[in-house]
Amino acid sequence: MPLVFIISNHLLEPHFRQWKTFCPGSTLAWAAQLQLSLSAVVLLVARFLTSVLEQPPASSTWSAFKPSQTKVRRGLTEWARPRQQISPIKARPTFHVKHSSVEMYELYIYSVRPVKTGARNVPIPVPKPTEILSKVIATSSNPKDWQFPDLLPGRRANEGDDIAGIVHAVGSEVIEFRGGDRVAGFHRMLEPYGSYAEYAITPETCTFRLPANISFEAGSTIPLTSITAAIALFQQLSLPLPWQMFRESQPKYGPLLIYGAGSTVGAWTLKLAGLVKTNKASGVGPIIAVAGTSSIDLVKSSGAADYIVDYKKSNVVTEVKKILEKEGKELRHAFDAISHTVTKTWENGAPCLAKEGTVWLNLTDVPEFQVNFEPNVVMSRVYCAGAYGEPDPDTHSYSPRTEAEAKLDGEFSYCMYRYIARMLKHGKLTPHPYEVQPKGLGSVEQGLQLLFDGKVSGKKLVYRVADTSGLEKFQ
Ligand SMILES: NC(=O)c1ccc[n+]([C@@H]2O[C@H](COP(=O)([O-])OP(=O)(O)OC[C@H]3O[C@@H](n4cnc5c(N)ncnc54)[C@H](OP(=O)(O)O)[C@@H]3O)[C@@H](O)[C@H]2O)c1
Repeated sequence: MPLVFIISNHLLEPHFRQWKTFCPGSTLAWAAQLQLSLSAVVLLVARFLTSVLEQPPASSTWSAFKPSQTKVRRGLTEWARPRQQISPIKARPTFHVKHSSVEMYELYIYSVRPVKTGARNVPIPVPKPTEILSKVIATSSNPKDWQFPDLLPGRRANEGDDIAGIVHAVGSEVIEFRGGDRVAGFHRMLEPYGSYAEYAITPETCTFRLPANISFEAGSTIPLTSITAAIALFQQLSLPLPWQMFRESQPKYGPLLIYGAGSTVGAWTLKLAGLVKTNKASGVGPIIAVAGTSSIDLVKSSGAADYIVDYKKSNVVTEVKKILEKEGKELRHAFDAISHTVTKTWENGAPCLAKEGTVWLNLTDVPEFQVNFEPNVVMSRVYCAGAYGEPDPDTHSYSPRTEAEAKLDGEFSYCMYRYIARMLKHGKLTPHPYEVQPKGLGSVEQGLQLLFDGKVSGKKLVYRVADTSGLEKFQ
């Protein structure tokens, strides 16, 4: 507005100067008043135009929802149109009703052995003040999508948590996003309105913009696993942050062992640790990655591992000890991305750690029985829900997060998601390989069965919502 005022004054100033030359004093005062009045008129017109342009289209507000499902769906699509079609000064959408009677397609899992899914109609949710409602374009599955219903029999829930899509509506306190933004986000696990649906909810803090070079399909592989890896490395194993400054006199971090580097979580830890290692002053290294034969190429492609040990072809403990001896270094930090109770993977990681002084071992899962680690081993378990700033609800004896610590995880995750998006944009981080399943959400059942059977290696399974047959009957 001040700019409009200056411009209008600037336009009127030459005329005012002419009047000054010809007019007596009283007329001069009149002319000054006229100039001010004209400026005010220009201001009012500009303000009116701005307010008109800032309104979202009438058909795209919640108040425009009508009983006709087709009309409603057209309204939804309009509102979620790509950003470039939206006026650059468009305000964030506002809500005119608190509840929506409009329904959407949702997939739920009702059995695990074997995996069975069903489809149902549920209301499109209204986001709470700090939440985002996105139209889901693509989603991916995680082992927890079958693990939770297995642990909680009788649960019939939409278990998807990885969302890539377009912001459709935002809560009243959201400051970062608006309708039409391309985003990815981590849905709150165990809560309604997950990603196996047409629309899904994410907390603002766990939502980040997808750079233009990252497709929705690739974006859907990122939220849950990347943040699990980041919390494990930086919050649990105290790896220096990639943007941290170092002094020569600071103690060096030393070697890092990543067990299960072929898994999605493991691959993310490798890539993130690789970023830190590029800063030589951090003293991180060597990075020793352990993976199976079929994942060796994937691990090599990150360029972050100094040594790769194939757990299928060699004795991991012997190989890792040889490497450490050659490097003349002691291992103080290890991450186990698999932590499988049956394969007891920690039995390959823990013995590689130094016997003197404190050493840290972080696992993705806790053993279902008491394991007696050496007294110098500080064992902890990463919990991805720390991303929402919430403590692990599991009651186990292994260093559970306090509320205060979980809050720090939440703050950290907010920053880390934005850093990851930035690194993706610059090509310094890349998404995990993925495979799009043919039938959209209709393929989730088969996908989770493959995960359950341990038949998915070195890739994420991705589902495009638009490929789901039967969606139209929900319209
Ligand atoms: N605590 C948490 O918050 C949290 C969060 C996310 C995931 N998780 C858990 O972390 C684990 C990994 O999740 P993810 O999403 O990364 O799974 P994923 O990508 O599906 O992992 C599959 C990979 O695991 C590797 N693998 C399987 N058994 C192995 C073994 N005995 N030793 C070494 N590697 C093995 C295989 O790689 P190879 O080809 O190299 O054998 C396979 O490619 C799951 O158990 C998941 O439930 C926990």
